[in-house]
Amino acid sequence: MPGPDHRSLLAELTLEEKASLVSGSGFWHTRSVERVGIPSIMVSDGPHGLRVQPGDGDHVGLGDSIPATCFPTASALGSSFDVDLVREVGAAIGREARDQGVSVVLGPGVNLKRTPLCGRNFEYLSEDPLVSGVLGAALVEGVQTEGVGASLKHFAVNNQETERLRISARVDERTLRETYLAGFERVVRTAAPWTVMCSYNRINGVYASEDPWLLTEVLRDQWGFDGLVVSDWGAVDDPVAAVVAGLDLEMPSSHGSGPRAVAAAVRAGTLDERVLDRAVDRLLGLLDRASAAGAPGATVDVDDHHALARRAAAECVVLLANGGSLLPLADDLARIAVVGEFARTPRFQGAGSSKVTPTRVDDALGALRDLLGPSVTVDFAPGFGVDDPGADDAALAAEAVEVATGADVVVLFLGLPPSFESEGFDRRHIDLPDEQVRLLEAVADVNARVVVVLANGGVVSTAPWQHRAGALVEAWLGGQAGGSAVADVLVGRVNPSGRLAETVPLRLEDTPAFGNFPGEDGEVLYGERIFVGYRFHDLVDRPVAFPFGHGLSYTTFDHTDLDVTVADPVAVPADWRGPVRLRASVVVTNTGDRAGKEVVQCYVARPDEPAPRPVRELRGFAKVDLAPGESTTVTFELAERDLARWSVRSGGWVVHPGPVEVAVGASSRDIRVAATVDLGGPAPVAPLDRSSTMAEWLAHPVGHDRLVEALRTAPGGDLSLLLADEDTVMMLGSFPLNRLVTMLGDAVGDDAVERLLAGLDGDGPTTA
Ligand code: BGC
Repeated sequence: MPGPDHRSLLAELTLEEKASLVSGSGFWHTRSVERVGIPSIMVSDGPHGLRVQPGDGDHVGLGDSIPATCFPTASALGSSFDVDLVREVGAAIGREARDQGVSVVLGPGVNLKRTPLCGRNFEYLSEDPLVSGVLGAALVEGVQTEGVGASLKHFAVNNQETERLRISARVDERTLRETYLAGFERVVRTAAPWTVMCSYNRINGVYASEDPWLLTEVLRDQWGFDGLVVSDWGAVDDPVAAVVAGLDLEMPSSHGSGPRAVAAAVRAGTLDERVLDRAVDRLLGLLDRASAAGAPGATVDVDDHHALARRAAAECVVLLANGGSLLPLADDLARIAVVGEFARTPRFQGAGSSKVTPTRVDDALGALRDLLGPSVTVDFAPGFGVDDPGADDAALAAEAVEVATGADVVVLFLGLPPSFESEGFDRRHIDLPDEQVRLLEAVADVNARVVVVLANGGVVSTAPWQHRAGALVEAWLGGQAGGSAVADVLVGRVNPSGRLAETVPLRLEDTPAFGNFPGEDGEVLYGERIFVGYRFHDLVDRPVAFPFGHGLSYTTFDHTDLDVTVADPVAVPADWRGPVRLRASVVVTNTGDRAGKEVVQCYVARPDEPAPRPVRELRGFAKVDLAPGESTTVTFELAERDLARWSVRSGGWVVHPGPVEVAVGASSRDIRVAATVDLGGPAPVAPLDRSSTMAEWLAHPVGHDRLVEALRTAPGGDLSLLLADEDTVMMLGSFPLNRLVTMLGDAVGDDAVERLLAGLDGDGPTTA
């Protein structure tokens, strides 16, 4: 229902005007109604930098844009595990938006990386909902502190580009709640984005844009979202169904067709005008928020933002391996060979709607020369052409081998060409181009000291060639300052502290969605359920190239003195995650001789729960900055939700009592300290009904005695002997009560079920 502030304005609007407001104007604006003073506002991509198109943009919204700072892409930012940094980046994007008169920034994207093949993984933060949710919330907070709205996207279950406008993700509710919705929920509940963008795809057959369960029941009624829901660009299939479901703004303009359909439906009586009013009310609410921020304009210091982009990109770099301590590059080098076109022509962002026109671009080659100074000779050879059909790879490789020969160290920049990953299509494999692997082999044949630096949005398989590289640096698509940032790490100006927010698998065949991707006949089955990313690799207990959470430093850390205590739920105020149940504290010490940052990771397992649960799940992380020898205590508060699973039968979150394993470490497979505590509480029992099994009756604290008594006093004679034989109990244990009674017939009497159930309501604990 309209808020009190908008009631009179709504009353002044004609039906046509109201219908016009729930669809955009052109590509990037909302519609105005000048007659009553309703203004239009501008929205713009995107997640890692602004993409403001001059005028109203081109017909597909993908052309040139005004220069803006290109920050690291989401797959890089996810690896920073740094909440404050991500908030700072968000604020900088927000300032640039204010400067350009943009009221809503279309990001962040918090979809999970279900498969490394998703062409758009570079725009997503992690394979883990906690990392996606926490860092997504930080981005939203940052943008919104500047008086600009964020648009949390793509809600929901948009995990592939193949058929993205039509595909139906077939996914069960537990998986939705625990996995694909969890990151969105955290951002909505903790950062209150001004808008949420619904995705293109269908979920269990229903378009996200017209799904009342998703857009209203879950998003608003359960999570308390009070902003506006906007469609992804072109996601509306049926404009009337969309408004009914809770979509408030169709983007971009549908050139009048959406508004015409909506107005006609009201006239025909098939759409309640109050439903339209609700959408208009929310649009007016968005306009209020935008105008409360004041007139557009902000002071943007382009140099400052570039410096932030460099600092941010360096925080995202993940040092995967450092054989022979090749890094940081030693002070006494005479000559280094820099090989790989990416060193000179960096690949720093992905393609599609998030593509930013940068204010400037740093390249690693230039930055290395600057940082190393004139005393070190830096020779360069491109080694390969990037997406260049004319490149003579053999000649380029030969030249590179010559440059590498005799160098003190070779820094080889490899990565994915732009044509390998983009919005709009998925990857076909996760390999580097063959010519790059051949180049590495040729260079490694003449020089044993090779550092490989990777530029890629989605992960690449490293297993086929990583033994040929001494050190391996994952630099992602680091934004416009990615080149100088990786140089900072290579020379040791920055101690690397990025950690993998996504597993690097040994083979594509090992990944969770393999065999269930990209689906067929318009549907993709999420058969791996909650076991996404490391949860799957741990479930099947397979080795990986580099585990989730992994990343080295130029120093070392110890994790000791784990202390886990059970909190008194009554004494602790509950937030949306329920009361705090456990507190886990751990002492982290920098045991090396350099200052550095550790990402302390807290995993939880519920080993005794009968329902399948992951081997361990990340439930907290903290990035701590420690001087050599310094220690700090990190405390994680584990709330009810952190221990719960979604129960379809109960229609909610349930916490199984019993043991909780808390494991703290430096990656999902580098657990340093662990402890098990018992939650206590009653053993869970399913509520009993006529189809509860005999085993369930026998496990129920009240049902047990009732059943035994009913069998003992059965009209046809004592049947309780049935229970004396273990094999019989095992065999009949799965029989629902009503079937058992039917089988026993007169021996127990027709009304046995009713007698057993009578007055049982409320007897005993009934947790699922
Ligand atoms: C993308 C969105 C983007 C929108 C506007 C769509 O194709 O999926 O992420 O915000 O275009 O450019």
